[in-house]
Amino acid sequence: MNDQRDTRPPTHLDRTIVLVGLMGAGKSCIGKRLAQALEVPFVDADTEIEKAAGLTIAEIFAKYGEPSFRDGERRVMARLLQGPPCVLAAGGGAFMDTETRALIKRGSVSIWLRADLDTLAGRTKGRSHRPLLNHGDPRETLAQLMEKRYPVYAEADVTVDTGPDNPNVTTTAALQALERHLGRPLATVS
Ligand code: S3P
Repeated sequence: MNDQRDTRPPTHLDRTIVLVGLMGAGKSCIGKRLAQALEVPFVDADTEIEKAAGLTIAEIFAKYGEPSFRDGERRVMARLLQGPPCVLAAGGGAFMDTETRALIKRGSVSIWLRADLDTLAGRTKGRSHRPLLNHGDPRETLAQLMEKRYPVYAEADVTVDTGPDNPNVTTTAALQALERHLGRPLATVS
């Protein structure tokens, strides 16, 4: 009789994990914890774009406009996705780009951190570094972005719901979902 158990030792990550989701979903917060658990580096795409440009995201938007920011984002994402396995927090708009999305689908595992409007509005409130939320009613903007982006985020390999829970609860849920997707346990550090 065939023994169906997987007796191989838990594996380390051989692919980059890309966290997608709207502003305030917790991509950086959960990403750092996931990276620590999986013993791989955590990389924040927004930080890498800022380093490459020598400007903050808000400055890039103000000086060159959103289309230039998106060009830079596409280039930086392509570079990061070619690098060694890591946990990569993508900016909220990155997965909306056809090229970037195709690259992610080709070689990485994507996790959508899905949050409701109250969670997103609460977590982004009073913070001024996100240019898209600095004009008009941020809650309304987030609602419009949810409508437009959620059907596309739903193409991610794995969806994890996140809300007011302790980040460790969401991180554990993400790890479990990842293991289900990969079909085998991952080596994690306690
Ligand atoms: C954006 C999200 C931001 C940042 C930029 C645009 C978006 O990143 O890339 O302000 O289009 O949703 P976070 O999702 O990390 O806040």
